[in-house]
Amino acid sequence: MRDLLQDKNITYFPSRLQMQSKIDRKVLDKFGFQILRNFGTSSEKLKNFIMGYGYRLFYTESLNGWLHTFETQTDATELSEELEPGGFHTDFMFQKEPPRYIALQCIKPDPKYPLYGRNQVVKIDNLINAITKCGVGKDQLRELQIEYVLNGKIYKQNLFDDDLKSIKYHQKFASNNIVLNDDLKIIELINNLSLSICEDIVLKSGDLLLIDNHTTLHRRSECSVRYDFEKRIFEGRKMNSARFN
Ligand SMILES: [Fe+2]
Repeated sequence: MRDLLQDKNITYFPSRLQMQSKIDRKVLDKFGFQILRNFGTSSEKLKNFIMGYGYRLFYTESLNGWLHTFETQTDATELSEELEPGGFHTDFMFQKEPPRYIALQCIKPDPKYPLYGRNQVVKIDNLINAITKCGVGKDQLRELQIEYVLNGKIYKQNLFDDDLKSIKYHQKFASNNIVLNDDLKIIELINNLSLSICEDIVLKSGDLLLIDNHTTLHRRSECSVRYDFEKRIFEGRKMNSARFN
């Protein structure tokens, strides 16, 4: 375990950047995410904190609220509650203007913390850099449309904006039918490169992760559960999430 925790890609140790207690736009712009350790587990505090900076909370119709509390479950009905890893994605990518930021507040870490239940984030410029190193040109990326299948319907959407400054993507709904140079399939390429260059973020109870939803892809790693023999239920990681502009 010691070796794993010393890996430079795992954002685990309290570094100067992680000792912050304020939303820092410069950090968010540079890294695509920010971690506020020991923020606390109160959802009211989270709402007031976000609004205190003049941001507007994003109302999520499908979840019927401004804040979503979810726990990993053995019989999940939502993607966020599944034990298996989620695909790399941006939130609300089918909306014309997806929310800019995501706040993920850890209420209860994964039972197998810190090895399971991580959050993984990839900054768009690192991803574009990696893709172009595979021989795919930036002009090709500007034109690139991904095909999605959702509720039996097919949607096509540009992966990047014209400036290659923002991304919309959801691996789980994307069909892997676009072949680039050298027989590279775009979905495989994004997934494999993202896995190799992402930051692994380990949150403990009370930690708050802020993600820029326009300039990064994010994903949840595999989660575990623990059986509570007295309550006779499986317990997993519990999180609050909110989105804001
Ligand atoms: Fe998400």
